[in-house]
Amino acid sequence: MTSVMFDEIIHFIKDTYGHNHSIDLHSPVFIGNEKKYLNECIESTFVSSIGKFVDLFESEILKITGATNAIAVINGTMGLFAALKVLNVDQNCEVITQALTFVATANAIFSTGAQPIFVDVDSSTLGMSPSSLEEFLSKNVIVKNNTSFNKETGKKIAACVPMHTLGHPCQIDIIKEICNRYKIYLVEDAAESLGSYYNGKHTGTFGTIGIFSFNGNKVATTGGGGIIVTNDDDLAKKIKHVTKTAKLKHEWEFFHDELGYNFRMPNINAAIGLAQLENIPVFLKKKRYLAEKYRRFFYNLKVPFIVEPKNALSNYWLNAIILPDKKTRDDFLQYSYANGVRCRPLWELMFKLPMYEKCQKTNMDISNYLQERIVNLPSGVLF
Ligand SMILES: Cc1ncc(COP(=O)(O)O)c(C=O)c1O
Repeated sequence: MTSVMFDEIIHFIKDTYGHNHSIDLHSPVFIGNEKKYLNECIESTFVSSIGKFVDLFESEILKITGATNAIAVINGTMGLFAALKVLNVDQNCEVITQALTFVATANAIFSTGAQPIFVDVDSSTLGMSPSSLEEFLSKNVIVKNNTSFNKETGKKIAACVPMHTLGHPCQIDIIKEICNRYKIYLVEDAAESLGSYYNGKHTGTFGTIGIFSFNGNKVATTGGGGIIVTNDDDLAKKIKHVTKTAKLKHEWEFFHDELGYNFRMPNINAAIGLAQLENIPVFLKKKRYLAEKYRRFFYNLKVPFIVEPKNALSNYWLNAIILPDKKTRDDFLQYSYANGVRCRPLWELMFKLPMYEKCQKTNMDISNYLQERIVNLPSGVLF
C-alpha cells in the first residue's frame, strides 16, 4: 500500500464526515429527547438510582432484544461481573473467553477470582471460534457429575463468555450447543452488539445471561452504563438483589442478607438512554448506510473490508479493514492520526497483557493475524 492510498482513504473519510477537523472513532449524537428527559429528571429530583427512566429504559431494552428481564447497571463491565457472580463463579472456577476482546471481558472474569482461559477467534466473525473452543474442551476437560473440570488445574470450568466483536454476531448457536454439551454456562458479552441479530434472534439472548454497554462510544449511550438481560426469572431476581446492595425490602430498615454491590444505573443516565433508544432504528439504518459506503469504496481500492457474517444482521458498530501487515497498519495509523482522523487498531490480545500472561490458551493464529492488521474506521452516526 502506498501513501497515495493512505491519502485517498483519509480524504474519503473527511468527505464522508463533511468536515476537515478531527474525526473520532465513534462520537455519540443527541438529536432526540435527551435534554427534555434530563430536565424532567432534575425537576423531579429523582436523579439517582430510583426513578421512572430506569424502568422505561429497561422496558425499551426488553422490546428491542426480546428478552424477558433487563436490569440496568452502572456499566457493561460490572454487568458482566454481576452476571458471573450470580452464577457462582469464584476463585475455584475458570471461565473461557476469546483472546481478541476489549480488556473489560477478561477483567470482569478475573474480578470474580476466576482465572480466564483464552481461545482463538474465527476469521469470518471476529468472535469466538467454535472449533477452537471445542478443541480446547475436548483436549483439556473431563466431565464429572454434570460439571466440566480442567484436567491440568482440577478447577471447574464454570462459564464461557463469547463476545460479538465490533457488533458482528459470532456463531453463537454452535457455541451454545458446545456449552450445553459440556455443562458450561453461556454468558454473552454483547457490549458492542445492541441491534445485532443472529438468525433473527437478538445477540445477548442466546445464553443464560447477556450484557450490553452504553458507554459513550457505543451505538446508543447513557453516558456510562450497561444492562444485563436474561430469560431466567430467578436469576433476574438475584441480579436485581445483588446489584442493589442486597437490601431486603422494608420501608425504613437496612438489612442486607449477603455481599451486595451498588451497581444500579442512575435515573439521570437512564433518561439519556431512553432518548437514545427512541432513535435506535434511525441510528442503525444510518450505520448500515455508512458501512455500505465504506464497503464500496474499499472494494474499488481492493482493501478487504469486514462485512456482517452469514445468517447475521450486524449493527456495524465499528467498520474495519484488514491491511496487509503490521507495518502497514502502524504506518496508516500514524498517517491518519497526523491528519486528524482517529482510526484505531484492535485491542492488544489478552494473553499479552501482564495480568493474563500466564493464563491457559489455545493456538492463536487467527487472533494474532487479525490483531496485527485490522484498523477500525470512524463509524459514528452521520446526520
Ligand atoms: C467487548 C466489551 N466488553 C465489555 C465492555 C465494557 O463496557 P463498559 O465500558 O460499559 O464497562 C466493552 C466496552 O466498553 C466492550 O467493548
